[in-house]
Amino acid sequence: MEIVLGIESSCDETAAALVTGDRTVLAQRIASQDEAHRPYGGVVPEIAARAHAEKLSPLIEAVLEDAGMKLGDVDAIAATAGPGLIGGVMVGLVTAKALAMASDRPLLAINHLEGHALSARLSDASLGFPFLLLLVSGGHCQLLLVEGAGRYRRLATTIDDALGEAFDKTAKLLGLGYPGGPAVEALASEGDPGAVKLPRPLLGRAEPHFSFAGLKSAVLRAKQSGEHRDADIAASFQQAAIDCLIDRTRRAIAVAGPVEALVVAGGVAANQAIRNALETLADETQLRFVAPPLALCTDNAAMIAWAGVERLRMGQDDPLDFVARPRWPLDPDAVAVRGAGVKA
Ligand code: KG4
Ligand code: ZN
Repeated sequence: MEIVLGIESSCDETAAALVTGDRTVLAQRIASQDEAHRPYGGVVPEIAARAHAEKLSPLIEAVLEDAGMKLGDVDAIAATAGPGLIGGVMVGLVTAKALAMASDRPLLAINHLEGHALSARLSDASLGFPFLLLLVSGGHCQLLLVEGAGRYRRLATTIDDALGEAFDKTAKLLGLGYPGGPAVEALASEGDPGAVKLPRPLLGRAEPHFSFAGLKSAVLRAKQSGEHRDADIAASFQQAAIDCLIDRTRRAIAVAGPVEALVVAGGVAANQAIRNALETLADETQLRFVAPPLALCTDNAAMIAWAGVERLRMGQDDPLDFVARPRWPLDPDAVAVRGAGVKA
């Protein structure tokens, strides 16, 4: 059974994990940089890159020790090679290249989004292809038809902000600090989702694209009006976001053709209200619903190791001169959508 070391360093989590071909996570460790970025209310790329450089090697040593293994016991080294903050990505990728060279094992340069996309297959052995994926993270909001590892057809994307970004901005506006998603979710549970009238951008449109910039501005106006409780704003924002997600995903189900399941992945997939709404949609449309456990939704290295397992099985590996990619779409044929902000 193959054993893959996974490395993740594309944003503000430094992570390492050892995962086997039979879906056992032998060891995993994550060092969060929340404290370092908190004073700035968001991720500072230079601080992130330095922290990754400091923390990564000890984390890799720790997971090997946790699993009682040596580098020589590992069959391949997988690292996020993009998209993301380039300084951090380079720290992880260069480390992986050095380990691959020293141990004479193959290097797998993993697309971070592919890590998220295949994470549900790590937690659910019965999930086959094709499946419809809602990928919602800090930098992305996409609907993808996943036909296989490395085979993605983008059905929709956001024409402006990512949903995680909208959660983070809402949190900042309400003084909830960083990281914002979980804090907005917690406050929303104390509020009335119908209290504040907020827009549902692109609802009912034929193409299943997303837009969250208008919603974000409306949240700002609601806060500035001084007429609403913060909990009501949080709950109304979350409800508007859910209504958009469900309408757009319903549209994608209609155009995707036959699929095995509806899958949600990415950091925002940790939101329980969003998971519940998607599960209801899946029931209505008679699709199986698969959501990875919370720890596999937010950035982690187990998903990177698992994407490595999938690619290793396809007989793939990457050259040691593979160049880190700050931008790296899963579907290279997807056309740019007017208004789409290009974010890592
Ligand atoms: O996938 P991820 O960990 O990093 C990226 O690749 O972007 O996603 C991070 C995003 C952040 O915007 C964070 O606020 C959001 O996921 N997030 C949440 C929740 N937990 C994390 N958003 C809403 N509700 C949550 N419970
Ligand atoms: Zn991510």
